[in-house]
Amino acid sequence: MLENSVEQAKEKFEIIIKEQLERIEAMKQGSEAVDYTKINPIIVGVCFGDGIGEIISKHARHVLEHILKDEVEAGKIQFKDIAGLTIENRAKHKKAIPDDVLEEIKACHVILKGPTTTPQAGDQWPNIESANVAMRRYLDLFANVRPVKIPQEGIDWCFFRENTEGAYVLGSRGVNIFDDLSIDFKVITEQGAERIIRMAFEYAKANQINYVTVVTKSNVVKTTDGRFSQVAFRIAKEYPEIKLDEWYIDIMTAKLIDPARRKDFKVIVLPNLYGDILTDEAAQLQGGVGTAGSANIGTRWAMFEAIHGSAPRMVKEGRAQYADPCSMIRASAMLLRHIGYVELAEKVEMALEICGQFEKKMSITGRNTGVTGEEYTNYVLSWVDNPDLRSRWESEIYNLK
Ligand code: IPM
Ligand code: MG
Repeated sequence: MLENSVEQAKEKFEIIIKEQLERIEAMKQGSEAVDYTKINPIIVGVCFGDGIGEIISKHARHVLEHILKDEVEAGKIQFKDIAGLTIENRAKHKKAIPDDVLEEIKACHVILKGPTTTPQAGDQWPNIESANVAMRRYLDLFANVRPVKIPQEGIDWCFFRENTEGAYVLGSRGVNIFDDLSIDFKVITEQGAERIIRMAFEYAKANQINYVTVVTKSNVVKTTDGRFSQVAFRIAKEYPEIKLDEWYIDIMTAKLIDPARRKDFKVIVLPNLYGDILTDEAAQLQGGVGTAGSANIGTRWAMFEAIHGSAPRMVKEGRAQYADPCSMIRASAMLLRHIGYVELAEKVEMALEICGQFEKKMSITGRNTGVTGEEYTNYVLSWVDNPDLRSRWESEIYNLK
């Protein structure tokens, strides 16, 4: 009996090792990043998701359609709604992403994705893998880029969360041995660490930022986090003008709420699970997880989403229409920037900042004490269309200095 279980576990582990070695080979081959200037039309897929996802992605799609109206008319951009990424359909097929839905997604160039339900043991759904995690892996969206800004405090953070490895990549493939022993796997590869760390350094260089922070727990998790840290220091040698610091995740979590220290951080690069946790904390400081967007970037595809989940509690309590759409609108701005519409992206970002941090004519509280997501979207759009947008935004920023 015992020997059988051990043998089975060894077999599973062997499969995992072989798969990871194949993945490493594919990463070594590399692939060229898409040049959006050469694509016509750029197909923007929209997956609406579950719970509040359905509602807030419609608001974000509305913002994109509004701002890209001329481009759509000129045939340069095409929107494509993808209906099948719902928990009902995923449960029916017992797949994180059903095959036909994945094909539809792959036929797009970029994807705007609403939050989807992630089943957990004991709930009403089959315990399938998270659609986010699966999409990140299937499309090799290795970089999860999450900016957080609090201009009043001089905070301008950009998190580069590794998105295809760490504790996530095999999160649904751990092994149980009898009733007592559970083992999960955490994977860090030289190539996987290098590509995200290099992206963080390139971002710092392009934005004249001379400080990068790598966050690990390499003093305890010595093998995987140890490698992540070593790769960071190796890459740093190629960027002599940029200083690299290593912070451990526990003290980093504390320092993010230390006003004397936190504005020093600029570009932060970290393995998957630490990135998941730390970016929720950062977003909360910015005004709530509902205010932060997330770009999942690979070489061939890119997917843009909120950093939070589908908020079933809000739906159950009948508050879904009060959900904050800003996370998805911010994700849309990141999408615009990614496909080359930098000026349009800036407009959306400036409008979001004026509405949420400066003018604050309306507030969204997630309850009927604030406005609905639809009303707030129209408020943001009124600023997008306002000819004084840039001058107003600049004067607000100036007033802060
Ligand atoms: C996120 C989310 C996802 C994650 C969940 C929904 C699987 O929390 O994008 O941060 O853990 O990555
Ligand atoms: Mg998260």
